[in-house]
Amino acid sequence: MKNILITGGAGFIGSNYVRYALEAHPDWHVFVLDKLTYAGNLDNLLDVAEKFKGRYAFAQGDIADREVVFDLIRRYRIDTIVNFAAESHVDRSILDPDAFIMTDVYGTYVLLEAAREFQIERFHQVSTDEVYGDIPQGYSQEGDPLEPNSPYAASKASAELLIRAYRMTYNLPVTVTRGSNTFGPYQYPEKLLPLFITNAIDDLPLPLYGDGMQVRDWLHVVDHARGIDVVLTQGAVGETYNVGGENERHNIDVIRMMLAILGKPESLIKRVADRPGHDRRYALDTHKLRALGWAPRTDFEAALRETVAWYVNNEWWWRKIKSGEFKEFYRRQYAERLAQAI
Ligand code: NAD
Ligand code: DAU
Repeated sequence: MKNILITGGAGFIGSNYVRYALEAHPDWHVFVLDKLTYAGNLDNLLDVAEKFKGRYAFAQGDIADREVVFDLIRRYRIDTIVNFAAESHVDRSILDPDAFIMTDVYGTYVLLEAAREFQIERFHQVSTDEVYGDIPQGYSQEGDPLEPNSPYAASKASAELLIRAYRMTYNLPVTVTRGSNTFGPYQYPEKLLPLFITNAIDDLPLPLYGDGMQVRDWLHVVDHARGIDVVLTQGAVGETYNVGGENERHNIDVIRMMLAILGKPESLIKRVADRPGHDRRYALDTHKLRALGWAPRTDFEAALRETVAWYVNNEWWWRKIKSGEFKEFYRRQYAERLAQAI
């Protein structure tokens, strides 16, 4: 592996992975292809562009555009594709599923076709624990059935099925990681933690869905990036690996901890109408990835403190995001809910 195409590299996890990969692999050249949707942001890569000038390049484009993808792979002699590009927010998939099918499903298909045509050494798909659906008890293992419950989760599961088919039919060298709820710097402030941290900084209400007793397994973005890297460099071809933080928390407890760190009152929490089809719990069995030497290294409370501090110290990054397209999404998603909040 030498010439790595990272799709969706201007998003949250993608940009953190680009930074991680360039540090960890001095012989890699990294090419980012990103459509720069509302979630893509070149501010996420400012330091990378400066620090790794000779080994990093960026192109704006759509993974669903065959011509763009094929041309880039041919021109830069790409040997590895790591696909982060996706529509990634569950609430938006409930409002407007269309883009999820176009990018997460059709876009993945175009990348697979390119991988086949150019005999790529490795195609890695960044997937999610949401493909398993709701897990009331126990821990999901990689062989468990896929039972997605949101249009987002279904689009990611569909992409995985295509990847499986390309492995079985064309012997494409693929790997997949299924990550759990990721947090850290540069996360678009529509997701629970960055939304609630930035709202709390401004003393705005925190719209908690339902009873707040849903369980998520929180994974720091650098642990996630390292998990992907371990699978890419040491994982067995054709295999899927869970990447979980081994850190299950109820939403309400995470929010209370965050408010205590910020020194803000719990009265900011407003209980609002639940997300339709809301999965109560995700939980991953990580033995398979641990066998490759990976383990999460982050202490949750310390990492949450660091993350809160990052948003406090980087208002330049999130204030301009929250003043743009975000406002219309926020109105559609929350105005009515907040008007009826408890
Ligand atoms: P994000 O929304 O922050 O970033 C997505 C990036 O993909 C953006 O830069 C966007 O511009 C780009 N993109 C979207 N459509 C594109 C297209 N058609 N062509 C090219 N680029 C396009 O998402 P994220 O949270 O960083 O998630 C990255 C990946 O990790 C996704 O595949 C997601 O399903 C997966 N994942 C996320 C989490 C999480 O907790 N955030 C957990 C597990 C897996
Ligand atoms: O589990 C991995 C997944 O984690 C990724 O595949 C997704 O891309 C990522 O968005 C995330 O999905 P979630 O739906 O779990 O994340 P979100 O931040 O939207 O919500 C986390 C929890 O907080 C969930 O139980 C819903 C709840 N929530 C979320 C928002 C945005 C609220 O109570 N209020 C909110 O306003």
